[in-house]
This record gives sequence, structure tokens and C-alpha cells, in this order.
Amino acid sequence: MSKAGRLVVLVSGSGTNLQALLDASADPSYGARVVAVGADRDGIEGLARATRAQVPTFVEKLGDYATRAEWDAAIAARIAAYEPDLVVSAGFMKILGPPTLDAFPVLNTHPALLPSFPGAHGVRDALVHGVKVTGCTVMLADSGVDTGPIVAQEAVPVLPDDDEAVLHERIKTVERRLLVEIVGRMAREGWTVSGRQVRIGNLTGGEST
Ligand code: GRF
Repeated sequence: MSKAGRLVVLVSGSGTNLQALLDASADPSYGARVVAVGADRDGIEGLARATRAQVPTFVEKLGDYATRAEWDAAIAARIAAYEPDLVVSAGFMKILGPPTLDAFPVLNTHPALLPSFPGAHGVRDALVHGVKVTGCTVMLADSGVDTGPIVAQEAVPVLPDDDEAVLHERIKTVERRLLVEIVGRMAREGWTVSGRQVRIGNLTGGEST
């Protein structure tokens, strides 16, 4: 059973999911704390949030490397320096390569109910499709685009006058709460993965609490 106390959080944008984790981990009983924040670009609010919280940051830009493999190795090395128990990809707009995925469990969050609407435009794609319920998914990352084993999901209604921004904000309110809950439970209770089945907690007798 894995446990997660030290978190490295990866961001590419506003970092409100990161902020929710920073706020939660201010309470020692949460069981996990953000030890570093990484990004694939400069000048984003996510990095500013980390700096305000006095959490160290690092940036590795894909464009600074000749090959994707070199970037994969570089970001894995930056992450490894902080010895995380869990990496949280929270609005990080890059697929991580084998050097990271083979070394650390990586949790990802997505603003749709997977396996529907994977990829960078999950909110827009759900809206265009005309679904009446969408939501958010917290999953373990694998080498695919939003294809890893699902840890938790929560539904969010689509309302008649929604545009992408309004719907995304409604989803993110739920997403932040779910991510904080799941990361905390994984840290405090541990988790196991069997095939696509992820279970949090003490599994003796085959039950999760
Ligand atoms: C989240 O909805 C995440 O699932 C998606 O981008 C958003 C990031 O929001 N990939 P923030 O940067 O945490 O505010």
C-alpha cells in the first residue's frame, strides 16, 4: 500500500487546485504537504501562489530541449530532487513521460466524467455534445491522454445557458473539493491499484472505508 505525505504539484495556469491543496495542507492533520511546485511555463499565477506560500518552484519548458525525451528526463530530475510520495498534475497541460511515470505515482484531475471527453477541451467538448450532466475525474496518470485508472468522480449539472467559462467554474468548485479530499485520504490511508481498480484505505477483507 502506497502513502503520500510529500506532494510535488505541477501546474500550467491559474493554480486554483494547487491553492486548495496549499490551504488544506496548512493543517498538519491533513497528512500531506506541498514540498514543491513545477510548471512548464513562466509567469503563471500557479507559480505566484507557490511563491506566496513560500513553497519552492521550478520551471522546465519543452521548447528549451531538443527532444521530448530530454524534457521528460529533465522534469523527472527536478521532481525527484524533492523526493515526493505523490506527484499531482493539477491543470498541468503536458503528458508526463516514462522517467516521471515510472518513478512516482502521479495523480491527475480532469474537468469531465472520463472516459467521456478526454483531452485539453473536456469542458467545451461536453458542452458541444449537449450532455446534461458532466463533472470531474481524479485519476492516476498513465502514458495516455486521461486514460489512467479512475480514483474518484463527481457529477456536475449542465445548465441551459452555460457557456464554457461558466460551466468550467461550476466544475472547478467541485473539482477542488474532490481533489483535496482524495489527496488527503490517499496520504492518510494509503491506496492500492489492481488493474484499473484503485482503492483507498485499509483493504483487509476487501473493503475500503
Ligand atoms: C482544471 O479544471 C483542470 O482539471 C484542467 O484545468 C483546470 C486547471 O485549473 N485541466 P487551475 O489551474 O487549478 O485553476
